[in-house]
Amino acid sequence: TDRYAVIGNPISHSKSPLIHRLFAEQTGQDMSYEAIEAPLDGFAPTIRRLRDEGYKGCNVTVPFKFEAYALCDQLGARARDAKAVNTLLFQDGKILGTNTDGAGLLSDIENNLGFKLMWKDALLLGAGGAAAGVLWPLFNAGLGVDIANRTLDKAQVLAEQFKGAGTVHARTYEDLAGRKYDLVINATSSGLKDELPPLPEGLFKPGALAYDMMYGRETPFMAFARKQGAALVSDGLGMLVEQAAEAFQVWRGVRPDTRPVLEKLRT
Ligand code: ATR
Repeated sequence: TDRYAVIGNPISHSKSPLIHRLFAEQTGQDMSYEAIEAPLDGFAPTIRRLRDEGYKGCNVTVPFKFEAYALCDQLGARARDAKAVNTLLFQDGKILGTNTDGAGLLSDIENNLGFKLMWKDALLLGAGGAAAGVLWPLFNAGLGVDIANRTLDKAQVLAEQFKGAGTVHARTYEDLAGRKYDLVINATSSGLKDELPPLPEGLFKPGALAYDMMYGRETPFMAFARKQGAALVSDGLGMLVEQAAEAFQVWRGVRPDTRPVLEKLRT
């Protein structure tokens, strides 16, 4: 039995062990997957211990994705773009890192929600780790992206990385008045506190998708989007399942069918 785990702090609420167990059943893979809480000051030793004990790989979640990035012996392109790692593979004593969050988001939006991204105008709310992790994939999918953040500097730092590569603007929330978008993604942590970023009315174009990267509850952002007439409103559960499927493929070489797993989690 090949062993895998997800490392975070806190981790007890994680749905990843269930998701990977369902994937393993579906694809007939002989593997285990557990949730492990690393001390806030003990991420690197925890990872090295797992590697030395013969684990094959692991997922990394909040707040360790940047530390994981720094710890890797080798990085995939997606991890380099995001400057963060959510999937580790242990191979010949080495720690290899990639990031499947962005691909998971795109897959959920395009395949599960049926929303076509090419040429659309997107607004990304937030400029923390969650936002940084999905910015390049959105951009590569052919979107123009505005980044809005309470603290403008942080949005400017992100936008700066795209200078010369395409259309990315940093904006304050006041700046959003009168602007309209096809896709609005909430990558802030506001939902955790049941708060709503200070959004103006009339933000959604006809047919627009409002996407909250949080899952497990109806956030104030989702309620706002419904009231404001967004055509599609989604939480981030599909992204969670899709990023897990991408990680599973990295480890096992097969991509599970995500639809039945997502359906099971929704009931
Ligand atoms: P994460 O890794 O989840 O992105 P983070 O790096 O702490 O966490 O970033 C949290 C993001 O949510 C930030 O962009 C933060 O805005 P500031 O940079 O201005 O602090 C944003 N955020 C948190 N609560 C918010 C709220 N109530 N309204 C708007 N933005 C909020």
